[in-house]
Amino acid sequence: MLILSKSSSKVLPSLICSFSTTVHQGVRKAGTVSSLPKIVNVSPEEKAQGLLTYKNLELANRALHHDGLVVLENAISHDKLDFLNQKMVEDARMLQAKGEDSPYNYNKGNIQQDPPLTQKFFDREIFFNPLATQVTSSIIGPRPRLSFISGNSALPPTQGETPKAQPTHSDADFQHPSSPFAMVVNVPLIEMTPENGSTELWLGTHRFGKEAQEGDHGERASGRIKKEWMEERRKVRGPSQPVVKKGSLVVRDLRLWHSGQPNWTQDVRIMLAMIHFAGWYRNAMEVNFSENLRGEIERWGRDLVVQGRHKREKEIEEGYLRGKFGNAYDFDQKDRLDLAF
Ligand SMILES: [Fe+2]
Repeated sequence: MLILSKSSSKVLPSLICSFSTTVHQGVRKAGTVSSLPKIVNVSPEEKAQGLLTYKNLELANRALHHDGLVVLENAISHDKLDFLNQKMVEDARMLQAKGEDSPYNYNKGNIQQDPPLTQKFFDREIFFNPLATQVTSSIIGPRPRLSFISGNSALPPTQGETPKAQPTHSDADFQHPSSPFAMVVNVPLIEMTPENGSTELWLGTHRFGKEAQEGDHGERASGRIKKEWMEERRKVRGPSQPVVKKGSLVVRDLRLWHSGQPNWTQDVRIMLAMIHFAGWYRNAMEVNFSENLRGEIERWGRDLVVQGRHKREKEIEEGYLRGKFGNAYDFDQKDRLDLAF
């Protein structure tokens, strides 16, 4: 089954028809590899125990090494997503109304939006999901550093604005190790589809470095992939814009090429992002949590090194929507090795 994306004239393979199998049997063109991600179907037992079987862990691990991305389906309860989504959609509409002053990334249809990390809205399954940590730890080593929690919201079109895609880019927009060092855990709060701005993915591109990019860190559009690199890569393995079911977790290597796509629907589409860095990778960012969450973070963050600051609940409530955006975040590390490989 093929879907014609409204965002461009590209013909995109759809995941809709065969998402129920453990490994997706996607569209394959002769002589090319599937552009679609591998799916781990989390069982109710695995979800309840917060632990994947070794067979499913192997699938996730191999997909991350090979593709730079894996989807874990049925990992998060829908009622928990709905509760947070209701609050964050209200926030998104308020931020969108700020227009030029909104915290947008590349274009105004895509904003950076932090969740409220307060007692009312914090949930282990969403922010500290043990299945996600089990998978990231299998790649970057035990007790990854959690130093980033934010979100990307694809906003409905507004009058007078033509929805635009982000340029294809890598979030690792600096000289970085060629070994895996950072895993992004994405949690969509609703189903993501080509219609509401599901991210376009270029699987297997996590192996490329800064040489494929233009623009420097700190510029609004840094990390853009050079045209000639995209054209070469397209011949080997083109991009896809998969449907990601509600309740899924997506684990993505920070280096992977991707691009946020326009939302053509009237629904705000929010996707949270938590970043796990390898323990040896000395990223210095910190997350602001309510001081009322100290107990939860100690208990549920045992398998992580949580780089956080505790602030008064009221301070979090008043400040969480005034966070950084664009390229203001720094995914680089401090005290870098002065060494070339
Ligand atoms: Fe990005």
